[in-house]
Amino acid sequence: MKALVYLGPGLKRIEDRPIPEIQAPGDAIVKVVKTTICGTDLHILKGHVATCAPGRILGHEGVGVVDSVGAGVTAFHKGDRVLISCVSSCGKCESCRRGMYSHCTSGGWILGNEIDGTQAEYVRTPHADTSLYPIPEGADEEALVMLSDILPTGFECGVLNGKVAPGSTVAIVGCGPIGLATLLTAQFYSPAQIIAIDLDDKRLEVAHRFGATHLINSKDGKAAQSVKTLTNGRGVDTAIEAVGIPATFALCQELVAAGGVIANIGVHGEKVDLHLERLWSHNISITTRLVDTVSTPMLLRTVQSGKIDPTRLITHRLKLDQILEAYDVFGRASETGALKVIIST
Ligand SMILES: NC(=O)c1ccc[n+]([C@@H]2O[C@H](COP(=O)([O-])OP(=O)(O)OC[C@H]3O[C@@H](n4cnc5c(N)ncnc54)[C@H](O)[C@@H]3O)[C@@H](O)[C@H]2O)c1
Ligand SMILES: [Zn+2]
Ligand SMILES: [Zn+2]
Repeated sequence: MKALVYLGPGLKRIEDRPIPEIQAPGDAIVKVVKTTICGTDLHILKGHVATCAPGRILGHEGVGVVDSVGAGVTAFHKGDRVLISCVSSCGKCESCRRGMYSHCTSGGWILGNEIDGTQAEYVRTPHADTSLYPIPEGADEEALVMLSDILPTGFECGVLNGKVAPGSTVAIVGCGPIGLATLLTAQFYSPAQIIAIDLDDKRLEVAHRFGATHLINSKDGKAAQSVKTLTNGRGVDTAIEAVGIPATFALCQELVAAGGVIANIGVHGEKVDLHLERLWSHNISITTRLVDTVSTPMLLRTVQSGKIDPTRLITHRLKLDQILEAYDVFGRASETGALKVIIST
């Protein structure tokens, strides 16, 4: 089968690999129908993710058809159409019983990281019963690719951890696919203001179409001042970091109002400063989270009922044998306008 393989920092290529086989009774082999590229794949390619070794097939998002199942799998059968979660969960360990699937002792975010991923014709999915989701009859499968990672990430790490509430004020720093997924799902709670912040005017325009009430291009270094003006000097109740660099976490520390929350989503590859010399007295909370995907069934219902339309995030469609081109388009998002690139096998 064809697969996109990480070969070390800055290096990737399409390789011919054997079709994966069942290794444990809980495994399923899924024929991938559609997958996509995540900002985190770009982090891996920069060498920021130490757990991902050279030789790994990348990708942790996708939908497909079950090709075979291990003896212990009871919820899925050959031919079932499934959504693949970016997080594998056994459903039994202490973390899974707490709903913290990201820290499953035999799962978590392993796909396209510690085990081979979905940017291939087939993928082995461990703990299939509790890590795959049946695709409802008639569902738009491209929309569901957005449920593997980005919608649960924006919702759980940004909106839930950030305690977005009716009438509250929210700033989202970074309007890539994750920031935009946060923006879509924040609106479940009707905040009064959603301030979108980015360096890229094109992405800010998209944020406006997705429901941001105010746009700030932070290029001039005056974003904190603009947010203060918009919030009567208070700052925001929820400052969401959706980039993963020191500068944007620093900005969130300037934006957060007394009593507010900084909800970090970004994957950080380097040391970041925390300004407790100023924040110690501000009654703030800081949250971090690796997406658990506990909200996937709920988000699936909101997509099925038309409450949110994640296909608005899809900008490009390519075939698996064009995946190097897909990476190029996705990696040069400021020029190409790419958000999510659907890759079909
Ligand atoms: N916590 C989790 O479980 C989890 C899951 C998935 C992704 N992530 C992480 O979320 C982050 C965002 O992902 P993405 O796919 O949207 O990434 P992306 O790179 O597509 O988007 C980042 C956005 O931030 C903007 N930006 C860059 N520097 C900026 C600055 N100084 N000020 C303001 N805006 C700036 C860029 O213009 C871009 O629009 C990444 O770090 C990714 O690894 C975390
Ligand atoms: Zn991801
Ligand atoms: Zn577990």
